[in-house]
Amino acid sequence: MRAQIVHRLAKDNILLEPGAIEYLMGKDDPMVFARSALAAMRQQPLFLTLEDLAEFSQESVSTKVAPRDVRPSLVSADEVKTMVDLKGRPTDITGNSTCEGNIEDFARYFQDRFQTMRRLLQRRRELVGAGSIRLVRRRGGDVKIIALVNEARTTKNGHLLMELEDDDDHILALIRKDSPLKNESIIADEVIGVCGKMNEGGDMIYVENVIRPDVPLNNDLAPNDSSNLVAFLSDVHYGSNTFLQKQWDRMMDWVKTDGVTSGLTYMVFPGDVVDGIGIFPGQEKELLVHDIYEQYRGLAEMLKDIPDGIKVVVQPGNHDAVRPAEPQPAFFKEVTDMFDSSVMFIGNPCWLEIEGRSILSYHGRSIDDWVNNVRHLTYENPLEVMKEMLVRRHLAPMYGGKTPLAPEEKDYMIIDRVPDIFVTGHVHGAGATMYKGIRMINASTWQDQTSFQKMHNFNPDPAKVPLVHLGTGKITMMHFNN
Ligand SMILES: [Fe+2]
Repeated sequence: MRAQIVHRLAKDNILLEPGAIEYLMGKDDPMVFARSALAAMRQQPLFLTLEDLAEFSQESVSTKVAPRDVRPSLVSADEVKTMVDLKGRPTDITGNSTCEGNIEDFARYFQDRFQTMRRLLQRRRELVGAGSIRLVRRRGGDVKIIALVNEARTTKNGHLLMELEDDDDHILALIRKDSPLKNESIIADEVIGVCGKMNEGGDMIYVENVIRPDVPLNNDLAPNDSSNLVAFLSDVHYGSNTFLQKQWDRMMDWVKTDGVTSGLTYMVFPGDVVDGIGIFPGQEKELLVHDIYEQYRGLAEMLKDIPDGIKVVVQPGNHDAVRPAEPQPAFFKEVTDMFDSSVMFIGNPCWLEIEGRSILSYHGRSIDDWVNNVRHLTYENPLEVMKEMLVRRHLAPMYGGKTPLAPEEKDYMIIDRVPDIFVTGHVHGAGATMYKGIRMINASTWQDQTSFQKMHNFNPDPAKVPLVHLGTGKITMMHFNN
């Protein structure tokens, strides 16, 4: 049976990884399962991996919708759950941190980043047949590799020179100043695919194409019979003297009345729920509540107003009282004890599953680094930054920027699967759009323009609530400014 499956797939130019064979052998009809998994993939891979099969298995489960005739009056906690990644590892760092910040941690972290990103890049048709640096150096001619960018700089002649490395070798790669790729923003520590020509000496690749993993063409969610809504409310900044109490109260009045009747069942808070203390010099002058515990106590009181049937999920951001290094764990017990037991606390970033819909929720600190490192990105258009994250399948590839990253045993910032909904906050913008069927949302703020923002001529877009209908995927932006 085993040999038969390997043989039949090989005839179609599909090779099976050993782990994938074992996985298939555990299925009722291995061949039917393999064929269905291949049919669901937008690009035929050269190697069918265990991760491919596990991903397919998960997707096919999540699209099965349990029939629901009546909306439950009280939502049970297990209707919101944190997801595991494709290798079965947690996507939430809370309780799972192992790093001490030593050299071994860094080596393991970058190895995980390289291996996971390579798997995503191997699915790209342009990279079928990509070899290791060592191999293509020997072969010469037209080459394709997948590698981590050690360094990228502009030479004095105006060319873009990269040093690339993989598991066991490194090589230079050059984008000439007259190349159509000359405006590529290559970020140090990102993993890319490179196609080009090897020079005669076998020590430099002349780059003809840079490949990013991206997401498949169409990921739109299949409608189901849910009539429930999920709301996203980022950057509450409770405790700041620019917290918009009136607008908040207006929003809460809506939640308790029309919100409930229109199906509002989940409220997700993607970070910076309080203003914090000592976040930037002179912040004390902008605080109404000067004690961090009092800030959380005040927020907890406000959230008690949310009707019982609504499930609340709270995530930290860079103003919150957890470690600043990402991934950030959920709040300490001292803080969570202040809130109603129905409030769920998650880390940052985190993958949530709500009624079968996958939601990638990330506060968005790295937007600062994206704007600084990628030419066409701006603070005014965070949705374009989010699109770039999806194209590069990474929330924060840049190491050593404004976003502190903890070298955990896996890279929690990789977007290893395709979410139905992707939400960020941090930049106090409000907007929603679709990218290849994925709903992208930047979830506003409840803080008015601060003096710092005024100085930088930045206008926030506060007091808006993006709502997503879990059955149809329709997004509505609610306004509570007046
Ligand atoms: Fe923030």
